[in-house]
Amino acid sequence: MNKKIGVKILGTGSYFPKKVLTNTDLEKMVDTSDEWIRTRTGIKERRISEKNETTSDLAYLASLEALKSSNISPEQIDLILVATITPDMFFPSTACFLQKKLGLNFVPVFDLSAACSGFIYGIATARAFIESGLYKTVLLVGAESLSKITDWTDRNTCVLFGDGAGAMLLSASEENDNILSTYLGADGAYSELLFIPGGGSANPATVETVNQKLHTMKMQGKDVFKAAVPKMALAARKALELSGKKLENINLFIPHQANMRIIEAVAKKLDISMDRVFVNIHKTGNISSATTITALDEAIKTGRVKSGDLVEMVAFGGGFTWGASVVRI
Ligand SMILES: CC(C)(COP(=O)(O)OP(=O)(O)OC[C@H]1O[C@@H](n2cnc3c(N)ncnc32)[C@H](O)[C@@H]1OP(=O)(O)O)[C@@H](O)C(=O)NCCC(=O)NCCS
Repeated sequence: MNKKIGVKILGTGSYFPKKVLTNTDLEKMVDTSDEWIRTRTGIKERRISEKNETTSDLAYLASLEALKSSNISPEQIDLILVATITPDMFFPSTACFLQKKLGLNFVPVFDLSAACSGFIYGIATARAFIESGLYKTVLLVGAESLSKITDWTDRNTCVLFGDGAGAMLLSASEENDNILSTYLGADGAYSELLFIPGGGSANPATVETVNQKLHTMKMQGKDVFKAAVPKMALAARKALELSGKKLENINLFIPHQANMRIIEAVAKKLDISMDRVFVNIHKTGNISSATTITALDEAIKTGRVKSGDLVEMVAFGGGFTWGASVVRI
């Protein structure tokens, strides 16, 4: 019988745009306050991309970092996946633009759309492709320019989001199996609690859709909050179960960084003390598919996790979608 193909995490990288938007800056834009934003969300500042800076630009710079930390040459990549809800264009995929920037013509590429759970869906997809033997080395990116789909006059949403990208290189391995489990879930019944109504086939772009601001994010924050906590706890438990590990074996939990109160409520539900939970929302805001991977990258670079440690990443997002993955660093 053939030996099972393992999946090794070769390296990670991230990139954030230079421009910082603080809560104090937002006070000048909408009727809000630094105090309200900090106490309700935990966010102090977020990064915002330049007008001419695209999601694939952020993805490219994060990918270069991941390549550097992986010590492989770009030519070894044989599949590129980009998780994003803020593509450069409707089509071609952002993965196509990234491929071009990396100079990897002919490598197959595609985008994945699972909102804030995008990177977890991406890990499951990359793992399945590698384990099946179809591809050996996968570049997986979570990249977002949420500032470009934000209504900067809506205080209910504009204080929450930011821009950034994270990347991971995964490869087939006989010695390592770093992805211990992936668990995915979704419920389309709640699709209109967090969405962009305009621009697609339901409401193609017209002067009216622009005037009605249908091309920016709409959210029922309270309902999203209420659903996020139990679903993230469920996903964390399921992925743990599938990994065969116990809660006490996990060195670090990396929850999706959407709201500090959501993170604390999930930790409480799982009975995990906050010193085992990674938080960087204060400086990033919610960057959707890029949160878990940029957080993981920061945890590795700052020594918060070391080689051999077990990390559980958990996410929840528009759709609704949710998922979790236990990985060994
Ligand atoms: C958006 C969110 C921070 C709002 O917090 P909340 O405690 O639920 O606040 P509410 O919606 O009850 O609003 C309370 C009041 O604050 C006001 N408010 C909303 N945004 C505000 C802001 N930026 N500044 C000041 N006041 C604000 C509301 O208008 C409301 O005023 P009212 O009572 O006069 O109507 C919270 O619901 C949340 O984080 N939800 C999840 C969002 C999310 O994570 N989405 C992505 C998921 S992947």
